[in-house]
Amino acid sequence: MTARLFLPSLVFLLLSTTAAAETRVRLQDTKPGPIIDKNVYGQFAEHLGRGVYEGLWVGEGSPIPNTRGFRNDVVRALKDLHVPVVRWPGGCFADQYHWRDGIGPRKQRTQTVNASWGGVIDDNAVGTHEFFDLVEQLGADAYVSVNVGTGSPREMAEWVEYMTSDSQSTLANLRRANGRQKPWRLRYLGIGNETWGCGGSMTPEYYTSVFKHYATFIKTPKDNTPIVIASGGQNKETNWTEYLLGNVKASWTLSMGGISHHYYTLPTGQWARKGSALGFPEEEWFSTLFRTLAVRDILASNVRVMDRLDKEKKVGFMLDEWGTWYDPGDGGSESNLFQQNSLRDALLAALNFNAFHEFADRVRMTNIAQMVNVLQAMILTDGERMLLTPTYHAFHLYRPFQGARHVPAQVQGAPDYRHGTQSIPKISATAALGKDGKLYLGLVNTHPRDAETVRVESSKPIAKASGRLLTGGSLDAHNTFADPGRVHPTPLDLSGSNGKLEIALPPRSIAVVSLE
Ligand code: AHR
Repeated sequence: MTARLFLPSLVFLLLSTTAAAETRVRLQDTKPGPIIDKNVYGQFAEHLGRGVYEGLWVGEGSPIPNTRGFRNDVVRALKDLHVPVVRWPGGCFADQYHWRDGIGPRKQRTQTVNASWGGVIDDNAVGTHEFFDLVEQLGADAYVSVNVGTGSPREMAEWVEYMTSDSQSTLANLRRANGRQKPWRLRYLGIGNETWGCGGSMTPEYYTSVFKHYATFIKTPKDNTPIVIASGGQNKETNWTEYLLGNVKASWTLSMGGISHHYYTLPTGQWARKGSALGFPEEEWFSTLFRTLAVRDILASNVRVMDRLDKEKKVGFMLDEWGTWYDPGDGGSESNLFQQNSLRDALLAALNFNAFHEFADRVRMTNIAQMVNVLQAMILTDGERMLLTPTYHAFHLYRPFQGARHVPAQVQGAPDYRHGTQSIPKISATAALGKDGKLYLGLVNTHPRDAETVRVESSKPIAKASGRLLTGGSLDAHNTFADPGRVHPTPLDLSGSNGKLEIALPPRSIAVVSLE
């Protein structure tokens, strides 16, 4: 809904002259900060469960409408999300993936066991050519994660040559023979995944040497040099960041453009009983949001290390796996990681976006796990049916923040949301100056029952405002194949007079407002 806020004069300042109990969001819009990299809204697609096969790929012969094997409905929805980058093929799977299994005529491709995820057979129908076709259909950049665990520098070097060489080498001509004349644009290359665990159970010291060894043999044409991302730590640790930065010195043979880190939110914090995707008590609504807010400390502590050891800010912090991880429910298992997605996931995503924006000068990419049918997905499919999850809608609401300039937004006077002896902020806010010149404000009300009215204070007159809201009738409001539109954005009611804008946030809601 668009509200015109009538202005007695064009010169007015919304200063903090309001009553102390009133919740205000103060925008420091005179000093826009760093650009929020569009890749902060990145995605991850692993050969896992029904993520790549079925969720994205149905094959050219499928009755489900598709373009060269990728389903049209899913691609259309993802394009509308402006997906900027996709990480592939894993995850843990990447460390067992041998790229030559996935090229050439599909019928002749190797049948491999997906030992990471349930031992199912992967017929390798989706390989390098198909992945790049997908990202080209989406208009996204490619982030390829190479096999360190069971691969070799030679295997990586040859894959890189296959993808990027425009020469007459045997590998470049093999790519041509397989249907692709021109090299693909390889934007990001990850060296290993979770090398502290499924990627090789390494120490940071050992991995740092492995990284240097691999990275030395990435040879590409000058106009197709990928940003090379090292595999870093998880959760609250900073030792991987510290060790990598302290020991990888850029040279003509070596560069490190990013350090990857992973953080998953489990409602209970326990892998043995993580908590349910649906039907959870308020205690788990609270604990999930509480635990996800730890991302701020994870970012802050790693950024502190980076600011000390990389003063020129050459290296980015890439949170290239994040999201919720629940106990398997209907249709889910510990090996397919299918889970339902509710309003709680959407709020959690928005709280993470707000934190990522705060560290915009260092957080240059994040990849939610995962794009379709796996963990905190954007889209769920069931045969020919598909639905958009509440998380999809959160990403959609936040689209204007891609490539926008961060504007500090201070929340003042808001009560906390208390549960038992703990509390989290009831209102979380973020703001940015969009590429279209409008100011954007993102707000989250974490409280399960209480609404909140927020007054916006900005240095410039607000003449016009419009926004969209995402909320739902219950804590676990979600979409089903029978009722796919239950949770969806609606126009936001805005009120204002004399240029003062007030936003009424219902309980458990997200709003994104544009201000002019
Ligand atoms: O996203 C699922 C798995 O979680 C990935 O394969 C792995 O990197 C992480 O542990």
